[in-house]
Amino acid sequence: MYLIKTFIKFLSSKILTLKFSERLSQNIIRRNIIAQKNPKIVSTAAGNPKSFKINSWNEILRYKVWKKIPEYIDTSKDILYLEFGVWEGHSIKFFAEKYKSKNSEFYGFDTFYGFPEDCLDMKKGHYSTSGDIPKTSDSRIKFIKGLFQETLTDFLEKLATESKKKTVLIHFDAPLHSATLFTLFKLDEKFKNYYFIFDQFGTDECRAFNSYSQSTMREYDLFLASMWNRAPEVVFGKFNS
Ligand SMILES: C[S@@+](CC[C@H](N)C(=O)[O-])C[C@H]1O[C@@H](n2cnc3c(N)ncnc32)[C@H](O)[C@@H]1O
Repeated sequence: MYLIKTFIKFLSSKILTLKFSERLSQNIIRRNIIAQKNPKIVSTAAGNPKSFKINSWNEILRYKVWKKIPEYIDTSKDILYLEFGVWEGHSIKFFAEKYKSKNSEFYGFDTFYGFPEDCLDMKKGHYSTSGDIPKTSDSRIKFIKGLFQETLTDFLEKLATESKKKTVLIHFDAPLHSATLFTLFKLDEKFKNYYFIFDQFGTDECRAFNSYSQSTMREYDLFLASMWNRAPEVVFGKFNS
């Protein structure tokens, strides 16, 4: 009997890890969010993400959502676009191409040395560009290099009042709980009404989003989602004050 009990204890300590319960809770959270907010589902896919080529992942899950955003934010508008997680600049350039007004501003935040800690099955440093920022001839795009935790406060302090009055679109694409939670709370000091994109809602992003929106009692709408294995992956919505 003693041996059986010890064996069960050993097994549960291996299975019921913190990571396991976090994954379980975020699965429940994101499914609940979809059920409550009922966004328009623009694409669905299923299977093992590792078996997908990056281009088809982009086509099926990301571009389907991104291409519908102009139905909510007119492309002639002056926008303030902030992107958290830039890597080689694919997404920031996509939105700069869409929103051509000369007064629109695009800021991309990244260490450019990859993740500051292990993330999902990726190791610290994954997505590093060895410190190089993406090349662009679009002078409206600017990059802010460093940890969000080190650069965002100063950036927000110096941001012109005129910029803050523009239509704000914020793209969260650093799928770490720490980075996403910090960014959401820091932005809250300056912005209450803004459009958002979460690129990997199926990861720690949704737990951070849930903790933030519950603790601040922030109301929000969810307009669009692409679904991966029947749970939301890329989502687009708006925080309301
Ligand atoms: C998935 S990649 C971004 C991909 C990009 N948005 C695209 O569509 O091509 C995530 C990026 O987040 C950055 N990142 C993660 N946590 C960060 C933090 N706390 N501060 C700064 N950059 C961070 C990593 O360096 C990495 O380049």
